Amino acid sequence: MLELALHILDIVENSIRAEANLVRILIREDRSKDLFLMQIKDNGRGMTPEEQKKALDPFYTTKKVRRIGLGLPMLSNAAERTGGKMTLSSRPEAGTTVTAKFGLFHIDRQPLGDIASALIAIIVGNPGIDIIYKHEVNSREYLLDTRDIKKALEDIPLNHPEVTSFLRESIKEGLKDIGAAL
Ligand SMILES: Nc1ncnc2c1ncn2[C@@H]1O[C@H](COP(=O)(O)OP(=O)(O)OP(=O)(O)O)[C@@H](O)[C@H]1O
Ligand SMILES: [Mg+2]
Repeated sequence: MLELALHILDIVENSIRAEANLVRILIREDRSKDLFLMQIKDNGRGMTPEEQKKALDPFYTTKKVRRIGLGLPMLSNAAERTGGKMTLSSRPEAGTTVTAKFGLFHIDRQPLGDIASALIAIIVGNPGIDIIYKHEVNSREYLLDTRDIKKALEDIPLNHPEVTSFLRESIKEGLKDIGAAL
């Protein structure tokens, strides 16, 4: 995968399949620690310790249409290539947290890429799910919370074309303001 934003799409797809209705995405760039942290936390059905172990195996999937599940192993591999690692923490009925730590300045760290489009795709494709996206660069932060946006929009749906293009621009602007590395 070329961009970390595509890994995020993949991991959030797992959350949606696990019937989460709230997904928190956190990106933290810490230059002094050479750390790029990416965390996706959901309130979906969660996994037993046994299921968690299996989830890291490429030949395990609970999808009915195919026999391999690569989302988590690929993210784990991408993190390890930069001297980091991925950890999985999950509890049945409570939810799942996937945390991937990358070497921020490592030559093999993929760029975050088009995170605005990834977020819009998640938001437009899943109107029933709320997304909180927080991006920290040292001490600066950008925050997007679809619950607040829905409140402000009142009856206008989040997937209205004018709303999505406004959202896309405001995400880009917000990330530029904090100096996010895309
Ligand atoms: N957030 C989650 N909540 C509950 N179960 C999960 C979650 N993430 C992963 N799993 C379980 O772990 C399995 C493996 O996930 P992984 O993303 O690696 O592969 P996949 O989703 O099955 O297939 P792919 O990602 O390649 O389309 C899933 O099939 C699912 O059973
Ligand atoms: Mg997956």
